[in-house]
Amino acid sequence: MLVKFAVIAGNASRDLAKRIARRLKAPYIEAQTKIFPDGESKITFSSIPKKSIILVVQSTYPPVDTNLLQTLAIISQARKASSKIYAIIPYMGYARQDRQFLSGEVVTMSIVAKMLQAVGAKKVIVVDIHSKTALNHFKIPTVNVSAIPELAKYFKKLKIKKPLVVSPDTGGSSRAKKFASLLNTDFITLKKSRNRNTGKVQIQSSKVDVHGRDLVVIDDIISTGGSIIKATQFLKKQKCKRVFVACTHGLFVGDAERKIKKAGVSKIISTNTIPRSTSKVDMAGVIAKSI
Ligand code: R5P
Repeated sequence: MLVKFAVIAGNASRDLAKRIARRLKAPYIEAQTKIFPDGESKITFSSIPKKSIILVVQSTYPPVDTNLLQTLAIISQARKASSKIYAIIPYMGYARQDRQFLSGEVVTMSIVAKMLQAVGAKKVIVVDIHSKTALNHFKIPTVNVSAIPELAKYFKKLKIKKPLVVSPDTGGSSRAKKFASLLNTDFITLKKSRNRNTGKVQIQSSKVDVHGRDLVVIDDIISTGGSIIKATQFLKKQKCKRVFVACTHGLFVGDAERKIKKAGVSKIISTNTIPRSTSKVDMAGVIAKSI
């Protein structure tokens, strides 16, 4: 049977892939993955409709390298059935290694781009990639979908009275501005520094006017939670009211979620680019529309 689209789900993004398939009224194919005791992946899947546009959906969150390798293997297999393979990688691991920060560092994002192209991806679709520089490593078309409108819709429903939106660093300032305008409110940007060797973050801002305000701190990624925790501790010292947190990709490495709550955050909301208990915002509709 000839169908326009077929969706293949990797192990890391089954629910999101199913939702995208439903939106596109496309057949959903699940890759069966098995991890051998030595860590190797074995991937098997049933027949793929020929000549369709095949959408391979898989975020590359931890275990990053395993999920990445599985994505490459699925694309490579799908390429046998069709020349039109779109890699939907809602959370793109390695995107923060998009340039050389310290001498001698490998720009691993460029290797990831080369591998995805080498196995046959003809287009890459991501959600809120950490920086557009990461996409410059691709020689095929790329689409960067924004989660901000969907996160804003969710926060509108919470009916927080005129919250102040906060970006924890200057790099996230335009994100905070967009989010604040959708919530019809104002925003501020904190200054953050990160030690490139230890990874430790510090908030460098001095005084900010947050007294008596409910805040929504918005970031693209929460990994160890260090940025959000430092920002929350700083903002709480300035006598704000409640602190809410919104992010696109909730990695929550280790016990980051517990530590963030312990720092005084009332609620953490993320999208389903990474399936977590905080993933209240569904990106399937926006991803499906972008295809
Ligand atoms: C950095 O610039 C990013 O936008 C995030 O703020 C960062 O990746 C979060 O990492 P962590 O949770 O480990 O501080």
